[in-house]
Amino acid sequence: MQLLYKMASRSAWIARRFAKSNLHGKQKVLRSCSYVPAFRGEVKSQGDVRKNEHALQILHLNCSGSDDRSWTGIGSETFFKSYKKIYPHHKIKEINLWDKDLLKYNLSHVASKMRMVSGEEQAGDKENLTAVEDMITTLYSADKLVISSPMWNYGVPYVLKQYIDCIVQPGLTFQETQNGPRGLVTGRPLLLITSSGGDYTKPGMVHLDFQVPYLKVIFALIGFTNVRHIYIKNTSHDKREHLLQLIYKSVSHEVKQF
Ligand SMILES: Cc1cc2nc3c(=O)[nH]c(=O)nc-3n(C[C@H](O)[C@H](O)[C@H](O)COP(=O)(O)O)c2cc1C
Repeated sequence: MQLLYKMASRSAWIARRFAKSNLHGKQKVLRSCSYVPAFRGEVKSQGDVRKNEHALQILHLNCSGSDDRSWTGIGSETFFKSYKKIYPHHKIKEINLWDKDLLKYNLSHVASKMRMVSGEEQAGDKENLTAVEDMITTLYSADKLVISSPMWNYGVPYVLKQYIDCIVQPGLTFQETQNGPRGLVTGRPLLLITSSGGDYTKPGMVHLDFQVPYLKVIFALIGFTNVRHIYIKNTSHDKREHLLQLIYKSVSHEVKQF
């Protein structure tokens, strides 16, 4: 909580700088960012999301294991098979978060962004942030978001955290207001497909789960407040057959809600 508080205070400062340097903002939802003109592609505001019910775009952030022993892999595959039967025209775009070419967000990106928002842009800053902006554009182009992720050390695998560090950007995906941060990527449902060796719904275990509560908080910050969850729990102890049944049951329930 303290960390989020610090982050919110810092973003309040950045958002004020964004507001001051708003010279060209055209996109309604992204108005207060000085480097909005660098945005490309299809950016959907809340009003545009799910306008064309027949050709929705589903973005799948996949950080499952790569083979057929991955429980979150089985979970997402089962989900999308069922989903496709109901909505054959919807497009599913997958980003494999293990892709080694995905941006590694680092201090040079932070420095470029800080210079741009404070009006002290240097040569190369805009280019340095292009990959971040592309990732955010892709996020905005989705009508629905699915994240599949195993639990690693009570939290999320680092590749998912890295993605989050790229796309959680003040002025672009959330904005500071007098009433606190306001998410900008609104109107989209989020489905979490997670898995853990233990069962974190059990008394005495709940407080150790820093994965799902974290994902809910951080994605709510940028606007995803409608969250569904398929939880494949206790994979280190439960029988495979039972886990598969659990997946089929959760999928058939969630696919109708999503
Ligand atoms: C690096 C690593 C860390 C893990 N940490 C935890 C953990 O903290 N708690 C837990 O219950 N399971 C943990 N696990 C087990 C996985 O969460 C579990 O096997 C899960 O079902 C894996 O999903 P997957 O098959 O989709 O990769 C860990 C596994 C790995 C590889």
